[in-house]
Amino acid sequence: MRNGKVRVGLVGCGVMGKSLATQLRTIEQMELVAACDAFDDVSKAFAEEFGIWSTTNLDELLGRDDIDAVLIATPPYLHAEQTVAAAKAGKHVFCEKPMALTVEDCDRMIEACQAKNVKLMVGQVLRYFPIHSKVKEIVESGELGRLLCLTIHRLGGWFTGVWAKDWRKSKVTSGGALMEVNIHELDYLRWVGGEVESVFAMGENFLHSDCDYPDCALVVMKFQNGALGILHTSQVSIAGDYGGRADCEKGSLLFPQFWNGKLVVQTEREQKVIKAEELSTENPVRRELREFVESIVENRKPAITGEDGRAAVALAVAIYKSMETGNPISLRFKQ
Ligand SMILES: NC(=O)c1ccc[n+]([C@@H]2O[C@H](COP(=O)([O-])OP(=O)(O)OC[C@H]3O[C@@H](n4cnc5c(N)ncnc54)[C@H](O)[C@@H]3O)[C@@H](O)[C@H]2O)c1
Repeated sequence: MRNGKVRVGLVGCGVMGKSLATQLRTIEQMELVAACDAFDDVSKAFAEEFGIWSTTNLDELLGRDDIDAVLIATPPYLHAEQTVAAAKAGKHVFCEKPMALTVEDCDRMIEACQAKNVKLMVGQVLRYFPIHSKVKEIVESGELGRLLCLTIHRLGGWFTGVWAKDWRKSKVTSGGALMEVNIHELDYLRWVGGEVESVFAMGENFLHSDCDYPDCALVVMKFQNGALGILHTSQVSIAGDYGGRADCEKGSLLFPQFWNGKLVVQTEREQKVIKAEELSTENPVRRELREFVESIVENRKPAITGEDGRAAVALAVAIYKSMETGNPISLRFKQ
């Protein structure tokens, strides 16, 4: 650290890298000093925009002793190798979701960071969106009694615009939609519902023959506490939608629209409506970066750990396994 600031190197100067860098600049305790991208023109343009040094060689960036931490925002298949390399170089790591594409890779990342005593945080940013976090807060408070059933649907069309990257079309590079997109919802289901005991899933590829994973999936899960959960995910829905509900013993939480929507708290006696704009207004990406830097400065575990990232990946792996075998998959033992 220099002048109380954590000095940061960014790896992967694409869409998310830019979002991270933009928010980082608003955080007093962080300073962006370097960036790395596989493409020279991309890293140079990025460096110019943010007024920093750049390289196409990750080892060169990791070799700099004026970098305390790295943000990894490359395609998912690169996260494990790059995190392990960064940890070996003694850098704290913030890794974008999905943490990796296998549980074994997640374990390697956790072990490498533990061995060098550096922080590892995974960018499961949904936890910092207003309605998402309010639902968690109310369920956890117990004011509505025990959670019985949590259902989430994330429905839309195919990757277009800035999301239309070749690496997203292949399961080997992206992990498929269940990892690249729905790792958000899988982490969220586990965060709110608790550890998952078992899953059963069906998936189909209806409309996207140029990609090798389902574009529509239905996932049913049982939490270890006995509650049930459902995820409906789709890239073939013309109407689209993103929301859900949580039914608890003494009331229901309805959130038909997660983004900028409202939260309805319904009990037998009353109905309360909470609007997203009444909740936290801090940019969620800024909030997660602030958590990362504070965990470094305060020398404590970040709120979203490698173990959290790993649990979401284990869930996605089990879901794919259920689709392939046609059987329910237990997560209680092994994983
Ligand atoms: N938290 C969120 O809501 C959110 C949103 C979008 C993306 N993401 C995640 O961020 C990551 C990147 O996604 P994106 O949309 O920015 O992708 P992108 O394709 O826009 O950017 C990836 C960048 O990584 C670079 N790159 C590729 N190989 C590299 C290497 N070996 N070394 C250095 N750079 C390399 C590419 O050239 C590209 O510039 C993914 O893990 C994705 O899941 C998270």
